[in-house]
Amino acid sequence: LPEMDPAASASPSFHACVQGSSFQPLNPEDVRAYLYKAADFITDYYTSVESMPVLPDVKPGYLRDELRASPTSEAMLVTLVAARDAALRRIASNGMSYITRLTVYATDQTHSTFFKACRLAGFDPANLRSIPTGPETDYGLDPAKLLEVMQLDFDAGLVPTYICATVGTTSSNAVDPVSAVAAVAAMFNARVHVDAAYAGSACICPEFRHHIDGVERVDSISMSPHKWLLTCLDCTCLWVRDTNHLTDALETNPEYLKNDATESGEVIDLKDMQVGVGRRFRGLKLWMVMRTYGTAQLQRHIRSDVAMAKAFEDLVRADGRFEIVVPRNFALVCFRIRARGAMTEEATDEVNRVLINRLNMSGKVYLAHTLVGNRFVLRFAVGSSLQEDRHVRSAWELIKKTTAEIIDGEEIVQ
Ligand SMILES: Cc1ncc(COP(=O)(O)O)c(C=O)c1O
Repeated sequence: LPEMDPAASASPSFHACVQGSSFQPLNPEDVRAYLYKAADFITDYYTSVESMPVLPDVKPGYLRDELRASPTSEAMLVTLVAARDAALRRIASNGMSYITRLTVYATDQTHSTFFKACRLAGFDPANLRSIPTGPETDYGLDPAKLLEVMQLDFDAGLVPTYICATVGTTSSNAVDPVSAVAAVAAMFNARVHVDAAYAGSACICPEFRHHIDGVERVDSISMSPHKWLLTCLDCTCLWVRDTNHLTDALETNPEYLKNDATESGEVIDLKDMQVGVGRRFRGLKLWMVMRTYGTAQLQRHIRSDVAMAKAFEDLVRADGRFEIVVPRNFALVCFRIRARGAMTEEATDEVNRVLINRLNMSGKVYLAHTLVGNRFVLRFAVGSSLQEDRHVRSAWELIKKTTAEIIDGEEIVQ
C-alpha cells in the first residue's frame, strides 16, 4: 500500500507505527487513510483502464522481495498423495511395498504442474506416463492408448495408480473424455482426478456440462474460479468423492492444535486435507463473487465470453490468410497465419512469431503463444470482465493490419 501513490508526500505512513523497540499495532487512522486511497486507486484504475498499455512497464522480478512463495497446484498434490498412500496400503498386504511400482498417467497436453505435483508426492519420475495426443482426437486423450500403456505397465508388475484427465487444457482447451477414462481406470482400480482449472467455470451453464460427462465416476475434480469466474488470484476448488482419502494421508493431531470444536466432530478441519496447516479464507471471496453476481449473471459472463471468442473464430475462418489450428471449445481461439506457396513449416512458424511479437509490442493487445503439433500457434483468449465486442473487433483489425505489413510487405523469411 505505501507504494501505491508515491506522489502523495503528505500521506500517513505505516512506518510511523514502529516506535522504539516494542511492536505497536497499526494506527487505525493510518488504516482508514490507506483504505480511502485504495478505493481511489481501484476506481481510477477502472475509469482509465482503456488508456493504459495492456502490459505493465515493469521488469520481471521487481516484486520478488514483496511476494511470498505459495504452494502450486495443491489440489492435485493432495489427491496424488492420498492415491499413493492407498495404493501402497493395497500392495503392502501382498508383501510388495514399493513406491517405485506406482504409476501415474496424463497426456502430453496436461499442465506442467501435474508432473511437478507427482514429483512432490514422491512418485518415481520413471513411472510418470505422458500419453501422446494428436489432431485425430483434437489433442484430447485417446482412451485406447491409455488402456494400452496401463496394461503394459500392469503386465510389467507396476501398479497403475492415478490418472489426471484434463477438461480444457492450457495450450488449446482440449478435452479428455472423462467417462472413457473412468472406465479404463476402473479396470485397474486406479483413481481419476479431473483438472478442470479453466473450463470448470463454463459448467455453470448447462450447455457446457457435457464436457464433464462421466464425472460422477471420478474420485476428484478441481476448478479454479480465478481463471474464469471473476474471482481474483488465487482460488481453486477441489471436490473429492471421499474425504477419508485425504484425511487418511494428511491428518495430524498435535496437542497444540487440539480444541473442543475439533473434538466434537462438528467442524471440518481443513488442515487434515491439505499440505500446510494454516490457510487463507479464499472461500469468502468466491462467496462474495457468487452473492454479488448471482447464477444468471455468471452464466451471462461465460456465454458472452464464448460468443466473443466464436465471433473472433468466424472472422479468422473467413480470412484465407489464416487457419484455425484446433476447433474452439470455450473462449480460446488457436490460430495462425497459414503457409503460403512454397513456404516451409519453419518459415511459417517464424512469420507467426513475428506477428505475435509485433502485436504484443503494440501495447494494444496481448496474445500468448503455444506449440500445437509442434507448430507455433497464437492464442486469442477472451476472459476479462471488461472485454466487449468492440475490443475483439479492434484486436482483429490490428491483427489483419499487422499481418498485411508482414506478408504483403514481403518481410517473410522464405
Ligand atoms: C488446465 C490447467 N491446470 C492447472 C493449471 C495451473 O493452475 P495454477 O496456475 O492456478 O496453479 C492451469 C493454468 O493455466 C491450467 O490451465
